[in-house]
Amino acid sequence: MRIIKTKDYNDMSRKAANIISAQVILKPDCVLGLATGSTPVGTYKQLIEWYNKGDLDFSEVTSVNLDEYKGLDKDNDQSYWYFMHTNFFDHININSENVNLPNGMEPDSDKECARYDDIIRSVGGVDLQLLGLGHNGHIGFNEPAEEFKKGTHCVDLTQSTIEANARFFASMDDVPKQAYTMGIRTIMSAKKILVVVSGKDKAAIVKKAFTGPVTPHVPASLLQMHPDVTIVGDEAALSELDI
Ligand code: GLP
Repeated sequence: MRIIKTKDYNDMSRKAANIISAQVILKPDCVLGLATGSTPVGTYKQLIEWYNKGDLDFSEVTSVNLDEYKGLDKDNDQSYWYFMHTNFFDHININSENVNLPNGMEPDSDKECARYDDIIRSVGGVDLQLLGLGHNGHIGFNEPAEEFKKGTHCVDLTQSTIEANARFFASMDDVPKQAYTMGIRTIMSAKKILVVVSGKDKAAIVKKAFTGPVTPHVPASLLQMHPDVTIVGDEAALSELDI
């Protein structure tokens, strides 16, 4: 596990974007596993800037996103489809046919999870998986549980996740209570994993996830077992680590 300490959020975003750029330059037809949340927004901004300068070409890239709220359609401004398009895809030359997210409007969970796992298999798995970190140690929407869920599944979001995400919705009642998420096996099968963390409020969970015991009660702790993980975090988020 490589840990890169950065000065602040902007520095974190630039360094994370550099790692993603290297992946796209070295393998133009790579599969990027992408994440939502506020942490990667600066990373996407930086990648857009470099794309506009002519330094990056996404025309052959395929993306598979981690998760989507169940019950929100693509046009809902809180859907992850909307987030990814407004924050990233609409500003680069990725082929829309190569963009993949779980379909939040599919009511049949078994059907949707099987469809999404088939897509991930058919593109040959993920080359580089970008991850944020939830305050309770969730990755994607893999919430703390008694066991690791392997494939794409439908989750009941925990109260703490609903509360954390309520800031994006008009009220707590508007936050969806379920989501589709890539499973832990899929995330762990990515060739490389890049975790971005920022802010003092993430310091305790960063310490617990990356130096504590590996347990499904802290899903991100399993990343300790992956052979190629890079954590890029600002000083505040890494402040409880002995580095
Ligand atoms: C959501 C997303 C996660 C993300 C997490 C942290 O729950 N499903 O993929 O990592 O929020 O978000 P933030 O980066 O805003 O702290």
